[in-house]
Amino acid sequence: MSSLTNKHIILGVTGGIAAYKAADLVRRLRDAGAEVRVVMTRAATEFVGALTFQALSGHKVHLDLLDADAEAAMSHIELARWADAVLIAPATANTLAKITQGLADDLLSTLCLATKAPLCLAPSMNHVMWSDAHTQANIKLLQQGGIKIFGPTSGSQACGETGEGRMLEPLQLVEQLAQIFSTGSLQGCRLLITAGPTFEAIDPVRFIGNRSSGKMGYALAQAAAEAGAQVTLVSGPVALATPDRVTRINVESAAQMHQAVMQHIASQNIFIACAAVADYRPAQSQPQKIKKTADKLQIDLVKNPDILGEVASMSQPPFCIGFAAETENLRQHAQQKLATKKLHMIAANDVSSQDSGFNSEFNALHIFWPDGDVQLEKASKPQIARQMISLVAQHYSQNQTQKKIHEKNSTQDS
Ligand code: PMT
Repeated sequence: MSSLTNKHIILGVTGGIAAYKAADLVRRLRDAGAEVRVVMTRAATEFVGALTFQALSGHKVHLDLLDADAEAAMSHIELARWADAVLIAPATANTLAKITQGLADDLLSTLCLATKAPLCLAPSMNHVMWSDAHTQANIKLLQQGGIKIFGPTSGSQACGETGEGRMLEPLQLVEQLAQIFSTGSLQGCRLLITAGPTFEAIDPVRFIGNRSSGKMGYALAQAAAEAGAQVTLVSGPVALATPDRVTRINVESAAQMHQAVMQHIASQNIFIACAAVADYRPAQSQPQKIKKTADKLQIDLVKNPDILGEVASMSQPPFCIGFAAETENLRQHAQQKLATKKLHMIAANDVSSQDSGFNSEFNALHIFWPDGDVQLEKASKPQIARQMISLVAQHYSQNQTQKKIHEKNSTQDS
């Protein structure tokens, strides 16, 4: 699995001869695990037919801003929100100029303005156009604005001349795109995450469980690994593939999750408790299937260990981040859990509706720390996970700096 696995990539194709290479690029991106939606300018369709891209991407190609049918299927705003990254390949000199100026006169340029996803451009043009002062000034401005420029490279050109302006090869573009998801902000950190539900056995065939799918925890594990952390994922029973470079430990019950976490926690720098751990379990799990004889059945429940609480109260705890799944008084309950469990951060998760939170593709979080908070607006779980991991990395690094200052002061005092 590469860092493009499950990433939503919008591939913008503009009107240059290298558009034919963009067809291969779609295949390469999909081979790397990405889901690709293609947006073509009208000029691009003069070089390669939209049907080619439709067949290769498995999705209808997006062509026009003012197409009622296309907008009804997925509006340009939805498309902009869907994207984890936008890659324009080839990007013509005209496209570079339009994006520099913030023009929005077709679907692709409008998308570039409407998306918060990283924007990457793979220039492709005649070498004289590439070295022209206007193009170079545009490139400088685009880079200053945080836009990534992939290439171009030097070589023989379609016009018969030789020089700089050739688009990078599809595999090189895939490699460069994958790198934008590898932030390195948690390089050298060891991070343990719990994810998914726990199943508490009533008898050999029945259990008490919950609706957690594990998607949020797995997205966090993937984002943390992409940020360079060495990730251990303690997972309840879910039907998800293990993210790349993540060590997974499967458990079923809260007691097993507790045991696995406590066994591995001593060497960890960061702990994220995303699992929906059952607070109670049947006092006794029956060895045989319970028969349907009595009219009423009473099951006594006993409390499970509070894994997060126990980790956070260790003598030398890791940097601890909890979740608070709430259906009401989100802020109040989350802040209470942050304080009573002595956590560094807590992610309050409104789980009152079905289109976000438990078992949904989407989530929205309100993250609190002792002297601040930030709201992560509703987005796909991988997008939310990347935002949350970037925040965790920032706060963890501040925490480490404060610790060092504190240690230095205490040695000077003694
Ligand atoms: O898995 P998904 O379908 O993607 O859904 C994601 C999610 C909604 C499950 C996730 O985002 C989430 O909110 N997880 C926390 C669920 C929960 O059990 O919250 P809580 O408020 O009951 O628990 C508070 C915290 O204590 C949590 O960090 C929990 O992991 C931890 N806990 C709870 C009980 C227990 N015995 N041990 C614990 O460690």
